[in-house]
Amino acid sequence: MLISRLLWACAVLHAVLSATAPDQEQGPPWTYADQSSWGKLSNSKCGNEGDQAPINIVTTGALKQPAQPLKTSGHSSTFGGLSWNYTWPLVKAFLGTTPRGWQVMLTPPYDTSTIFTFLNGKQFSLRKLEFTSPSENSIDGQSFDMEMQLVHAASDGQMLISSVFLKVGLVDGNEYLSTFWPQFPPKVTPDGTAAQIANPYYAALPGGRSCFIFNGSGTVPPCGTDTIWMVFKEPLVISRAQRDLYRGALNASSAHSGFLRFAPPPAGVVQPWSTDLGMNNRITQPQGSRPVLFLPMSNPPTTMSFDLDGHFWGFLGIGLLALSVLIGLLALICLLCSGAAKRNVRSKEVYSAESDEDRQPLRRFPQPVANAPMQQRQQMHPQVQLWQQPPSMGVMPQSQMGGRPPMTQPMQFGGPGQARYMR
Ligand SMILES: *[C@@H]1O[C@H](CO)[C@@H](O)[C@H](O)[C@H]1NC(C)=O
Ligand SMILES: *[C@@H]1O[C@H](CO)[C@@H](O)[C@H](O)[C@H]1NC(C)=O
Ligand SMILES: *[C@@H]1O[C@H](CO)[C@@H](O)[C@H](O)[C@H]1NC(C)=O
Repeated sequence: MLISRLLWACAVLHAVLSATAPDQEQGPPWTYADQSSWGKLSNSKCGNEGDQAPINIVTTGALKQPAQPLKTSGHSSTFGGLSWNYTWPLVKAFLGTTPRGWQVMLTPPYDTSTIFTFLNGKQFSLRKLEFTSPSENSIDGQSFDMEMQLVHAASDGQMLISSVFLKVGLVDGNEYLSTFWPQFPPKVTPDGTAAQIANPYYAALPGGRSCFIFNGSGTVPPCGTDTIWMVFKEPLVISRAQRDLYRGALNASSAHSGFLRFAPPPAGVVQPWSTDLGMNNRITQPQGSRPVLFLPMSNPPTTMSFDLDGHFWGFLGIGLLALSVLIGLLALICLLCSGAAKRNVRSKEVYSAESDEDRQPLRRFPQPVANAPMQQRQQMHPQVQLWQQPPSMGVMPQSQMGGRPPMTQPMQFGGPGQARYMR
């Protein structure tokens, strides 16, 4: 009798354990779906009012500071009292798939050599990049398709998160993200994929650094406070495919079916937006009496250097150049027209070959090929393909991961001033 009761109890216990175990193993003890209960978790600060993140930034309410110029020199840039310093333009990182989305974790010594200095002179080192979709913070009620959060820590443990909004636009893909975007493990794994990526300070910050600064918290339980937020006003442009790849991967790796938020899309995201895919954003929190500072940049980049408009002006410039070359050629042809008709045809051929090459929109930062033999040069010319489909560019084979950090590396992407690091 006793034995059969014991066996029965064991069977029940076993059934209960096996029913609850997967959730406990695969995910955190909270869900994005039910954020109202985050405050009841042990040691949680999530229920505090007025010191939590994210927030909706009301631009007219922000305390505008005097405009400051962005100055870039070598491996550092300064903007007002802020500075970004790094030692290596390429860093080694692990690309991790977690139950709450993709993360890029910098590995030593790259984490401690990528240093941000805040207004008060305090130094924070860049530890990882996290992504959410849609954005967690919003501006004047408008969300963005995604948010890239650069998570920093100071030696005393204080966190500083600088956020870059990612907005879907008519581009082939954000050049920086496309170097590692397809390489995250398809399933949640404790270890990520080892990769070599461009230093985020070098390639992942928007050209315009105007930003909003406020005190806040982490955006997942326990929502630890004493966290500085710096949200860049200017978004980076990504493609719809990049956003949707992220959203699909997030949905597939979510801890369990009730983990993510399923709700209508927030204002500001670009349609079409599938509501069959879950969202991993914490809902915006009351600002309370907290001030939000706005640091405007006095020398914002012209649209020449980035995004669609940049391509347009680039094309226009190349078009005008081609036109003047054509006029010059015509003049030359006229001068030589007493010569042979053959020559005329040949120079046209040469011109059209050069012009096709000049029209490659993405050859903005060509590799130095001065000493390369002719055959090699011809192989390097299809740069558009390299750019659009970097099959393994960011990947560092495991066997090389222990080697010395590269001081300078040729780069295929990035913002202005690219050539500086090639030499
Ligand atoms: C960062 O670079 C700036 C400008 O070169 C320099 O003044 C500052 O001391 C550097 N900060 C760190 C932490 O290396
Ligand atoms: C954040 O909190 C610190 C410490 O309380 C304070 O000195 C600082 O001014 C606050 N920052 C902002 C932007 O309000
Ligand atoms: C997303 O995940 C949910 C729950 O895990 C699942 O029911 C749904 O079919 C998924 N959506 C897609 C498009 O795969």
